[in-house]
Order: sequence, then C-alpha cells, then structure tokens
Amino acid sequence: MPTCHTSAPTPARKGLFLSIEGIDGAGKSSHLATIAQALEAAGHTVVLTREPGGTPLAEKIRALLLHEGMDARCEALLAFAARRQHLLETIVPALEQGHTVVSDRFTDATFAYQGAGRGVDWAALEWLEQWVQTTPAADNPHFQSPDCTLWFDLPPAIAAERLQKARAPDRFEAQTLAFFTNVAAGYARRAQQAPQRFCRIDAHQPIAQVATQVRQCLAQRGYLSGPTTPPEHA
Ligand code: TYD
Repeated sequence: MPTCHTSAPTPARKGLFLSIEGIDGAGKSSHLATIAQALEAAGHTVVLTREPGGTPLAEKIRALLLHEGMDARCEALLAFAARRQHLLETIVPALEQGHTVVSDRFTDATFAYQGAGRGVDWAALEWLEQWVQTTPAADNPHFQSPDCTLWFDLPPAIAAERLQKARAPDRFEAQTLAFFTNVAAGYARRAQQAPQRFCRIDAHQPIAQVATQVRQCLAQRGYLSGPTTPPEHA
C-alpha cells in the first residue's frame, strides 16, 4: 500500500498540480504515462511537464545543469530560475484554465539534490522556494506548490544497480552511492515536513505492483473521480 494522506493543502486555483519525485533510477519515468492516462480517463486535461525544463528557456537551463560543471549554489539558483519561468509560462496558466499539471520533478528535487546532496543551506532553499514560487494574481499573490507529490522511494543501492544498466549518465546520474544516500535522505526530510502533500510509493516492487500503488494513491486522493476544483484558501 502507498503511504498517502487523503487531505491536501488547497491553493486558490482551479486546476490540480501533481509532482513526481524520486532519486535517479527509482523508476518514476516508467509510470508518468500511466499517471497521465489514468487521470485523462477520469476526465482531467493533463499537462505533462518536467523540471528542470518545461519552457524553451528552462530547457536551456536544464542542459546547463545536467552537463556543465558548476558550484552547488549556482546549481540551486539555476534550478530556481528555471522553475520561476516554468511556473509563470506553463504551470500557472494551465492551472488557471482548470487543467491538471503533472510535473516530472519540482522543488523537492532541489532540496534533495542541491540541499541534501550538495550541502546547500536548507534555510536558503526555503527562502528561495517562497520567493520564486509566489506568483502575482490580481493583487493577491499565491504560493504555488504541488497539491500532491508522488514520491518513488527506493533504496539507493538498488537504484544504483538499475542505473548501471541505463544509457550514458548525466552529471547527476554519475554521482556516487553516498551522494544518492544523502539525496534519498533529503526526500525523506521533505516528506516529513509536508506529510499531507506526500504520497510515498514503495518503488522496490515489481513494476505492476508499483503501478497499482500509483493508482491507489490517485484514487485515495479522489483524483480518479474526475477533476476537482479546490476551495479558496480561508
Ligand atoms: P531526470 O528527471 O532524472 O530526467 P531523466 O530521466 O531524463 O534523466 O533528470 C533530471 C536531473 O536533474 C536529476 O538527476 C535530478 C536533477 N535535478 C536537480 O539536481 N535539481 C533540481 O531542482 C531538479 C528539478 C532536478
């Protein structure tokens, strides 16, 4: 069974915002299409996107992050720069139209990789998160964050074995087991800080059972009963 709470914070917007997270090799990419299809079958109009990326500019930043050596704070700042553009150009407009946004990674990845993995100060990331993810809306700024995060949790040693069989690694995939152990701890810390938002998927299972957990998580949240219009914040 996935570990999933049924109530989530409900920002003042029409659409639903989901993010998919996990260390490299955890298998999240294999389930993205399934997630989108399940939601579409339930009546959602799904906008599938990714981070870093999701706009032409943010995709250029992605190429830098994945392939150019740089300082850890520079990595964090670039991830947030791409995120701001992604929010303003892609995510918020889609949510305002009532669409369901599914993002392959979002801010938890910055806390996990740059925070726990590279040692960038957690409080600095929390400040950036607030600053970058607050978007203007008719004199009423909103903090934009996923309603639900599906976290594919897999022991780092197993993920490393899976990655060895994969294509040529990028800068992150080429990291050591110790790095991914820290990244996994970073995800666990984020999940502990926002238990209502996170749905933990035990990714150390055969693919069919992981897919079942994903469906259970979406169903428990009520997302497979059709698109929801979250109520306004009090
Ligand atoms: P990933 O999502 O795994 O895509 P692919 O499956 O195509 O390789 O790759 C993105 C990489 O970027 C991943 O290793 C994690 C890293 N990353 C960060 O380090 N910080 C971030 O804020 C984000 C969003 C991703």
